[in-house]
Amino acid sequence: MMIRTEALGVTYPNGTMALAPTSLDIAEGRFTVLLGPSGAGKSTLLRCLNGLVRPSEGRILVAGEPLAGSAAWRAHRRATGMVFQQHQLIGRVSVLGNVLTGRLGYHSSLRTLWPFARAEKRRALEALERVGLLDKALARADQLSGGQQQRVGIARALVQQPRLMLADEPVASLDPATAERVMRLLHEICTSDGLTAVVSLHQVDLARKFGERIIGLARGQVVFDGTAAMLDAAAISRIYGTPVTIPEKEFA
Ligand SMILES: Nc1ncnc2c1ncn2[C@@H]1O[C@H](COP(=O)(O)OP(=O)(O)O)[C@@H](O)[C@H]1O
Ligand SMILES: [Mg+2]
Repeated sequence: MMIRTEALGVTYPNGTMALAPTSLDIAEGRFTVLLGPSGAGKSTLLRCLNGLVRPSEGRILVAGEPLAGSAAWRAHRRATGMVFQQHQLIGRVSVLGNVLTGRLGYHSSLRTLWPFARAEKRRALEALERVGLLDKALARADQLSGGQQQRVGIARALVQQPRLMLADEPVASLDPATAERVMRLLHEICTSDGLTAVVSLHQVDLARKFGERIIGLARGQVVFDGTAAMLDAAAISRIYGTPVTIPEKEFA
């Protein structure tokens, strides 16, 4: 889905301006990375896009229509899969049970979801197969490794049949090799399903590798917007605020 923010800004009640008025067009079906250091405003922007943070100014349009009213928000949130840094699984519940919670948006309450219809279970198993964890369906979520748990988080988002995928530092708590594998999986799934994806990262290398478009944030402002090839040393220093110096020995 096509998303546009118009002068979207967030100032928290304590006075912190986390997001300066920001206007962005997020094209349908593209994999966009929000890159920036801690405190740059990545989570704030993502949470606005999912209605978890109420903007203090500006608005969001989905497919040209302003998001307004509870029915529009409900439909939008149902079409939006969310993957978090801390996967937020229920540890004592099976992997399958966790994935099925992604279906809750389609039911008026837990009672109408439980017992799960066979079609719901099939969908959940299919999602687990896509992330390579079909054999772990009945394991307790807390018995999985960090990378596996994050893949369950992706399956839980997928089972929702989203059109928009928002991921907030989905690999920040994983070791570099696992982080890259999980990012590759997320990228593959979003690309093959044609999902619009907005994924925040703080690692430049991963942003370069997977971002079709990279939006660099610093102190609540967009300071870069372009392709990986355009993300040069000057751009990185605008995002991270430190001048990039080349060690002298490289000239030797
Ligand atoms: N609920 C909140 N109340 C007040 N300030 C907040 C809140 N959430 C985040 N902030 C502040 O807003 C700024 C942006 O935070 P955040 O969006 O979490 O950035 P990032 O995800 O890039 O680390 C930071 O200065 C942070 O301390
Ligand atoms: Mg954050």
